[in-house]
Amino acid sequence: MPFPKYDRSAAWRADDMIQDQSWIYRIEDDAAKQMATAVERVYDVDRPLFDYTLDDFDFGPGMDTVRAAIKEAHFGRGCALTKGLPRSHLGADHFRLLVWGIGLHLGVPRPQGRASQYISEVRSTGGTYRAAGGRGYNTNASLDFHADACDIVLLACFNQAKTGGQSMVSSSTSAWEVLLAERPDLAAVATENFYFSRNQEEAPNENPYYGQPIFGFEGGRIFTKWNRNRIRTAQELPGVPKLTEAQLECADLLDDILGRPEMMFTMQLEPGDLQFMNNHLALHSRTEFEDFDEPERHRLLYRLWLATPDSVALPETWMAYFRSITPGSVRGGFRGHHHDDACLAFEERQAKALGMNVPALMIDPPLTEVA
Ligand SMILES: [Fe+2]
Repeated sequence: MPFPKYDRSAAWRADDMIQDQSWIYRIEDDAAKQMATAVERVYDVDRPLFDYTLDDFDFGPGMDTVRAAIKEAHFGRGCALTKGLPRSHLGADHFRLLVWGIGLHLGVPRPQGRASQYISEVRSTGGTYRAAGGRGYNTNASLDFHADACDIVLLACFNQAKTGGQSMVSSSTSAWEVLLAERPDLAAVATENFYFSRNQEEAPNENPYYGQPIFGFEGGRIFTKWNRNRIRTAQELPGVPKLTEAQLECADLLDDILGRPEMMFTMQLEPGDLQFMNNHLALHSRTEFEDFDEPERHRLLYRLWLATPDSVALPETWMAYFRSITPGSVRGGFRGHHHDDACLAFEERQAKALGMNVPALMIDPPLTEVA
């Protein structure tokens, strides 16, 4: 079956990432200090994150470096790293506000789960990844390759683990090409709906699951959605069609391809690193980790999910989950159980500041939706 042509900028193998490291951007020390000063100037322990605006954060030239990295995530390899955030100048609360401020300059933060939180602490707090309502970010478990539920995810490292916790990335464009070369029949299966659980984080008027293909094409670009754990948990929900033999075979082969040594690039995020991932073009996972004994040294990363002004049109089949396929719109995220008027007011204000629009479906979702 012929598939549309697409941009191959994000088609890479592990060796390509090693040999050409122009996807790594370094913030100079002076610029990092300026960013730290900008945070210290506005930090107020009693001020809610929603009250800050992007104009509060006068980051200076460090933001140029950050912008170059997110551009790489959008239109280059789908994955980029900024090194040199002012980690040693800032405590955890200030560092968290630094990440928030960076996010406000780049896009509209999206809620990330049941608590409708707009920034997540990625740390081990005893969650169970494989549970029906399980997530990865609050466990120390090794994770399956997956895409997060937004256009761009930022991961900023405050502390690394004592051992493990390596970050793995695979190009989903390359994975598609290998899948198509090895098993064109299964590649075709991957362009049809799979069913994903919302892992009990659905808003009251959302279905507990939704259907979406793994690969889609739109506007000369390729798009990927993958999360094996959520396909597995969806199988336990009433109304979800059982996976066919071909779908199971497709899922197994895709996971195999993503984890092949020549496909998968591994990096260890260090304190002060800020990783950018375009979830449509790169899939990620993480190894299991062990923390230091001292609580203040536990592995800790701050995660933001962003909708950005530079986002592109999504395939029609991405609508059920993202609720908007319009370029540069506010879309994606898990609105969770506490997505209230304060959240909406924040999103609308932030969208306006960046010249983005909030589609009606993000504000007033229907009671039933196409699964
Ligand atoms: Fe993730």
